[in-house]
Amino acid sequence: MIAIASDHAGFRYKEQVKRVLDELGLQYQDFGTDSEQSTDYPDWAHRASEAIVSGRCERGILICGTGIGMAIVANKHRGIRAAVCESVTAARLARLHNNANVLTVGERITGWESVADIVKTFLSTSFEGGRHERRVGKIHSLTEL
Ligand code: RB5
Repeated sequence: MIAIASDHAGFRYKEQVKRVLDELGLQYQDFGTDSEQSTDYPDWAHRASEAIVSGRCERGILICGTGIGMAIVANKHRGIRAAVCESVTAARLARLHNNANVLTVGERITGWESVADIVKTFLSTSFEGGRHERRVGKIHSLTEL
């Protein structure tokens, strides 16, 4: 199950991402927001992050104006590794090397065609493991005391 959320600035992309997931046959849960009315990104990032921390969702896709606010909030949650990705290469490496479990993108930063490819790449790339296993482990052992 994939957790999806956005604030008002990412709302249109969130709706488009849902169509991409439908096409891919992937299940998701939409944690809001539900319109382009101004709202606060931490509320939505927190709701989706809680679902991941609890194990109800395995991955997340969070969208705001820049992707930055969503990533900051998500990364405050235990076990979350959120990556702001502005390119397909970043999305691929975030999975290969960082085992990122949350993708964040910015609707005011990255064009839709790229975002569609970024989402597909993020969801279809597996963690490389090996030397990265130890490094990813340290993210949590050093910071989540
Ligand atoms: C909203 O105006 C904007 O600040 C928000 O979407 C996001 O970009 C924050 O990081």
